[in-house]
Amino acid sequence: MALGVKALPFTFAAHVLAIAGAIMVLVWCLYFRGGIAWEATNKSLIFNLHPVLMLIGLIIIGGEAIISYKSLPWSKQVKKIIHMALHAIALILGIVGICAAFKYHNESSIVNLYSLHSWLGIVIICLYGIQWIYGFVIFFYPGGPTEIRSASLPWHVLFGVFVYVLAVANAALGFLEKLTFLETSGVAKYGSEALLVNFTAVLTIFYGAFVILSVLSLPVDHPDDFTYSEI
Ligand code: HEM
Repeated sequence: MALGVKALPFTFAAHVLAIAGAIMVLVWCLYFRGGIAWEATNKSLIFNLHPVLMLIGLIIIGGEAIISYKSLPWSKQVKKIIHMALHAIALILGIVGICAAFKYHNESSIVNLYSLHSWLGIVIICLYGIQWIYGFVIFFYPGGPTEIRSASLPWHVLFGVFVYVLAVANAALGFLEKLTFLETSGVAKYGSEALLVNFTAVLTIFYGAFVILSVLSLPVDHPDDFTYSEI
């Protein structure tokens, strides 16, 4: 399915929401939650790396990787490299973010993988990794035969969108879970922190929606863009 409208306005909206979302998660973790650290006696600072890296890495940089084909004016070859590099950064930050959650649990004697959020999280990061490796091998290096490339492309797009939607939903679940823990231990339900966390989740969902709208819309015209199916 493709929308008969240009993607550019949707990609601009996505960029604006990306900047706002990144600022909001940083304000939450740095100002309200006391900061971020890989090594600390206050183990909460290790946990705080998790939402920051998952949102800015996997969701925002991953989203920018997805819309790069629609938002940038350059040739397909250049956009392919940017798409691949941004996804690699998103994947690495996502892996480090998940390691931070495990590290926090281990150093605080909390069990691992007890929630729906954590199970989905593992599935998402594995699928994201598989998707990246398949894309690299088939579309970049060494590159598959033309028939395999063109047959793979719609599945690459579909599978990528599926994993991304799952990631956005799981991030919302993460915000909900953490805020519920905090409210149980005294954070005010209608206080400024609770509002900030809830609105960060709302914004994350809107960002995800604009990423998907951009995928479904028409790319920026470029002489190198012959058809949708030729990467
Ligand atoms: C798509 C992005 C995300 C993925 C893939 C993800 C993945 C994970 C994984 C795999 C764990 C398990 C760690 C362990 O068991 O030791 C975890 C824990 C956790 N995450 Fe996330 N996360 C994401 C985003 C977020 C966000 C944005 C928040 C917001 C605060 C969050 C909050 C939590 C909390 C509270 C835990 C500890 C409790 C639990 O294991 O469910 N996550 N996450």
